[in-house]
Amino acid sequence: MNTSRFTRFGFILAAVGSAVGLGNVWKFPYVTGEYGGGAFVLVYLITALFVGVFVLIAELLIGKLGQSDAVTMFENLAVKKKNLWKYAGFIVVVPLIILSYYSVVIGWIFHYIALSFQGLPATVEESKSIFMSLLTTDVKTQLMYHTVVFVLVTAIILKGIKDGIERINKILMPLLALILSVLFIYSVTIDGSFGKAVHFMFDADFSKLSSEAVIVAIGQAFYTLSLGMGIIITYAASLPKDANIVKSSILISIIDTTVAIVAGLIIFTLLFDKGAESTKGAGLVFISLPSVFYEFGSIGSVLALLFFVAIAFAGVTSAISMLEPMVSYFVNRFNYSRIKAAMICSIFFYVLGIAALLSNISDYSPMLMVGDKGLFDWLDFVASTILVPIGGILAVVFVGHFMDKETINGELVPLMGSALTKVWFFMVQFVIPIALIIVILNETGLFKF
Ligand code: PHE
Repeated sequence: MNTSRFTRFGFILAAVGSAVGLGNVWKFPYVTGEYGGGAFVLVYLITALFVGVFVLIAELLIGKLGQSDAVTMFENLAVKKKNLWKYAGFIVVVPLIILSYYSVVIGWIFHYIALSFQGLPATVEESKSIFMSLLTTDVKTQLMYHTVVFVLVTAIILKGIKDGIERINKILMPLLALILSVLFIYSVTIDGSFGKAVHFMFDADFSKLSSEAVIVAIGQAFYTLSLGMGIIITYAASLPKDANIVKSSILISIIDTTVAIVAGLIIFTLLFDKGAESTKGAGLVFISLPSVFYEFGSIGSVLALLFFVAIAFAGVTSAISMLEPMVSYFVNRFNYSRIKAAMICSIFFYVLGIAALLSNISDYSPMLMVGDKGLFDWLDFVASTILVPIGGILAVVFVGHFMDKETINGELVPLMGSALTKVWFFMVQFVIPIALIIVILNETGLFKF
């Protein structure tokens, strides 16, 4: 199937493009705010750099050794219980579910790019009413932008690994780095407020640290590194033969974490400078920040534009990665043309996304509510809180217990020595699966730690 492969640099960019997304730019800052700043950041750093790197190595191994689509690889590489492991491939549906509402959110970002030209809301109240009216009444705008995202990501995916995914990442990721650098340098020059942001993010007050915070940090590390969904596994099947999977994993994790920290510092500097609150979730990016940008006067529109363009780029490169696992499965297993596979997958997420966005619209929401949540929130909850950790467990248990140990040693020992390989085995066999079970139990409320 690998008619085209990534270059080494292209692979790193594509994996980073997948990892760096809305999770870094909005989820990380607000969970940091919610769980008390510095101590949370420290725990997050440890989990992203250790747990994250270990699982990345596991997923890269599956891809490198499997050389196929994510579903087939589980089946082919299993040395026992093959007929059970073929079902593990269901995880390729998970990113498509995430993509349905992720695309709607990217649509909101496009809308806010337009808004930075037209004028920003002068107060938080105004900001809130603009966002709430988009969210709860404006089907037309949301549908239009959701459609734009659908066309865009489908067109890129159609072009394949090298001419589509690698190429777009080679353009967007350096631009993203440039924009974030400009915003970061600007924040550093805001006397006082930048210092406050640094203190907030790095002064560790462990009395604020709960077991809940640790669990959230592990969940966030998985989501932000795009683990547990067959994405990294799929990309890794197109790795160049000579790629060093250990170095790649470390690099991906370091870059992703750096972006999260830099985004956090920028956002908190801007918020603190205008005395604004760090709100939860979408409110941070779409309500608090726009009115903060307004308060910066004429430069505010430029800051807003740069900021929203940056998260649009981050979002689009993640969105593409969510489509590829299922597309490569259809192409590889059923000999579908790329266009047919891409159309089927894209229409699936497009239609589900429309239902998701309608579930926020007041006129339709009663029909699309189940219990206390609308479809939009359900999709997010089920996919990113339950299915992603389950996918993570499957990947590490598979590598740790069901693949050929000699082959794995043959790959890893030359790269990191036998002692570290043993530590890695212990982590993927026992520690990480248990940690992920705890995450699921806690986040679903089945058992609170
Ligand atoms: N890692 C991405 C982020 O941080 C999210 C993502 C989820 C990407 C699922 C791919 C698949 O935003």
